[in-house]
Amino acid sequence: MSPEEALFLLREAACPDNVVEHCVAVADTGMALARNMQDDHVVDIRLVQAGGLLHDIGRALTHGIDHGVVGAQLLRERGVSSALQKICERHVCAGIPREVAVEIGLPPRDFIPLTLEEKIVCHADNLTNHTVEDLQQTWQNFFGKKNGEIIVRYLDNLHEELSPYLV
Ligand SMILES: [Fe+2]
Repeated sequence: MSPEEALFLLREAACPDNVVEHCVAVADTGMALARNMQDDHVVDIRLVQAGGLLHDIGRALTHGIDHGVVGAQLLRERGVSSALQKICERHVCAGIPREVAVEIGLPPRDFIPLTLEEKIVCHADNLTNHTVEDLQQTWQNFFGKKNGEIIVRYLDNLHEELSPYLV
C-alpha cells in the first residue's frame, strides 16, 4: 500500500489530526530503523511505512488499550492485507500475551509482534515521544505488579533486539 493510500484511510476513518501526525512520525522512525537493519536483515520498508501510518487507525474510535484490535478490524473491513492488520493488532505496548490480554478485557489470544516489520513499528511507536525508562514506569503502574513485570519484560527484550539499530 502506498503512503498516500494509508493517509487516505486514516482521513476516511476520521482519525484526529494529532493521531495522523503521530502516525507520520512513527512511520518515519520505523523506516529509519528498518534502513539501519537492512545490512543484517531482510526487511520490507514499504510495509513498515504503511504499518507505521496505519498502526493507530483504531484511535479514530477508541484510545483504550483495545485500539490495536479495533484498528485491525477497521483494516479488515476495508480489505487491507493481513500483514498490515497484524502490525496494527500487535503494536500495543511491546506485546501483550494471552494471559494478560484476558485480564484486561482483550480477546483471549497473544498480541505479540513477531515479524521484523511488526517489531519495528511497535518499537518505533514506543520510542516516539517516550524513553524506555518512562515506559517501564508507566506500564508497571498501569498493569500492576505481576502483569507489569510481564509487559516490561517484553519491552526490555524488544529494546535489546532493536537498540543496536536505533539512529
Ligand atoms: Fe497505538
